[in-house]
Amino acid sequence: MKTLVIYTSQTGFTKRYAEWIADRMSGDLIDLKDAQKKSAEYFEEYDAIVYGGWAMAGTVVKVKWFLEKTVNWKNKRLVVFCTGGSPIDNPDVDTMLQKVLTDEQREYIKAFYCQAGINYENMNTPSRLAMKMFVSALKKKKDATDDEKKMAEMISSTYDISDIKYIEPIVSYLGE
Ligand SMILES: Cc1cc2nc3c(=O)[nH]c(=O)nc-3n(C[C@H](O)[C@H](O)[C@H](O)COP(=O)(O)O)c2cc1C
Repeated sequence: MKTLVIYTSQTGFTKRYAEWIADRMSGDLIDLKDAQKKSAEYFEEYDAIVYGGWAMAGTVVKVKWFLEKTVNWKNKRLVVFCTGGSPIDNPDVDTMLQKVLTDEQREYIKAFYCQAGINYENMNTPSRLAMKMFVSALKKKKDATDDEKKMAEMISSTYDISDIKYIEPIVSYLGE
């Protein structure tokens, strides 16, 4: 299975997961910005194409680009994976994965989630501001559940809950 992993990453988590998957599949790795410059022929030689993006307010960054491309890649094995600050058992994760693909796309693309973390040191200013607003709104919420309170605490500083084990379902779907 000749595999290409395309990724977009701001603070490094998605890049690291993309590297882990590419390594394990002995595949190629390419940043989305470079992939966007490639002609259609470039992708032809691959049997499997994986797209990795990070969760931003419940959606997957730049996934639209990948989904538009997949219309011509239905003969390949296709994966979308998303990284995020939420632990994998957070119910929001399933909601996000459900939303990312239409029923029709689900027939030829599979979506996965890899828990990652938050890295304020590598974050750009707009993202840092957005996070700050989100954290402060969550902390002010009067009827916040215990889970929400815990989440507000966790996401107010840098943490890393990524683990290579989260690539296992992806690798096994791709068929090592
Ligand atoms: C503006 C913003 C919005 C975010 N929204 C979510 C979210 O809805 N769900 C989630 O799990 N993580 C969210 N995150 C956390 C990132 O998805 C997480 O840190 C991701 O692993 C970053 O990937 P990267 O290191 O490849 O840039 C958000 C981060 C930022 C900066």
